Parts: sequence; structure tokens; C-alpha cells
Amino acid sequence: MEDCTKESPFIIAIDGPAGSGKTTTAKALASALGFIYVDTGAMYRAVALFAQQNGVSIEDREAICALLPDVDIQLERIGGEQHTLLGGENVEAHIRTQEMSKAASDISAIPCVREAMVDLQRRAGQGGAGAILEGRDIGTVVFPDSPCKVFLVADALTRAQRRKLQLEEKGIPADLETIRSEIEERDRNDSAREHSPLRKAPDAIEVETTNTTIDEQVSMILSLVRRRLDQFRKGNMP
Ligand code: DC
Repeated sequence: MEDCTKESPFIIAIDGPAGSGKTTTAKALASALGFIYVDTGAMYRAVALFAQQNGVSIEDREAICALLPDVDIQLERIGGEQHTLLGGENVEAHIRTQEMSKAASDISAIPCVREAMVDLQRRAGQGGAGAILEGRDIGTVVFPDSPCKVFLVADALTRAQRRKLQLEEKGIPADLETIRSEIEERDRNDSAREHSPLRKAPDAIEVETTNTTIDEQVSMILSLVRRRLDQFRKGNMP
């Protein structure tokens, strides 16, 4: 059988709402498989930060679209960790705030922003044997032909508890109820927007993670992905 990976990379699409475990899962898969990892949310966050740095309001869609040709986003791996560079500067610490989560969700509803980011994401997925992209619309819009789509879900309280723990590990105190309501608001925002809303692709495998540990979740998804990859390499995709 022909080895398809020589022709086109094996794209794994991981979608789901905020706090559903996409990042941990995608990073673990990337390191187990030696694939490129692309955090597409970081790109929307970087655009939101760029708008803020330039004093442009997200309400002003025309001005946001006009800014896009000047946005220079690169995702780089530094010492095993992925970092988001904006105009060559590492902006990881600046884009992970609650303020930027909300701003990224708002800016991601603007069609010209989505177009520019989808283009960037498609290019970022090329160039290796395979890539794992995590986001909201990877399986539906960015790589609709991906042979391996996973849609993660978990209840809002569980997702808020995970986020709280992550923040506390970084030494940032966090209130569970505040995080929960922010997560629920972002869910509504991301699912209700007109363009490329958060949605499970019809051929995505839904994985419910409310009652699983992250280790269980990763090992279950890894074995699922390995089966798909094996089929893909043998040219045996359903
Ligand atoms: O995954 P994240 O929390 O870093 O994403 C931040 C926001 O970016 C999210 O609320 C919606 C938007 N986003 C999107 O619209 N499409 C993607 N593929 C990824 C993120």
C-alpha cells in the first residue's frame, strides 16, 4: 500500500469548548506521535492583543480588518514549550489573561479575522508527517477532510474546576464561580456566532471527559488516534 503520509500530513482535529482538555490532550498526542502542535486559540488571542496594543476597539470591525495585514503571529517551540510570538515578541503571559480570553472570543466572531487565521492555520498544519490542531472549528472549517476528528465535552463546573487549578498552579488566585460564569459566557459566545461557530463535525468522535482523569482521557484518545493513523497509512480510511 502507498504511504499517504509522504503526500499529505495526517491532520488531527481537536475541538471543544473552553476547559475541555484540548490543550493537554493535543500536547500529549503531539509529543507521543512527533507531530506539529498548533494552538489556534493562541492566534485569536494574539490578534486581540494586537488590537489592544494599537488602541483599536473590537467593536470597530472595519478598523480590525484594516489591522490584519500588520499582524505577525508565529508559534514557536522554545525548550519543549510552545510560545506565541507577536511581531517577534513572546506574548504568552499577556494573552492568557481572562481579559484576553473574552477579547479573543469576541474578535473571533469577525469574518475577516477568521479568514486570516484559517489561512495561517492551514499553512501551520503543513510541513511535517502530521499535525494536531486544537480549536473550535478545526474539524468543521479549517481541515474538514481531516481523517481524525475528536470533539471534547465536559460539564461547565468540571471545566471551571480544571481552569481554577491551572491558574492556582501558576500562583494566580481564582474564584470558581467567576471562572464558571466566564466559561459559560464564552461557550454561548463561541457557539452562537454566525461564522464558524463551535460545533461538532458530523464525523467527529465525541469524547465526554467530565468523569475521566486527564491520563485516562489522553490514553483513550491516543489509542483511537493510533488506530486511525494505522488505517490512514495503509490507505484504509472508512
Ligand atoms: O482555545 P482558547 O480558549 O485559547 O480560544 C480563545 C478564543 O478564540 C475562543 O473563546 C474562541 C476563539 N477560537 C475560535 O473561534 N476558533 C478556534 N479555532 C480557536 C479559538
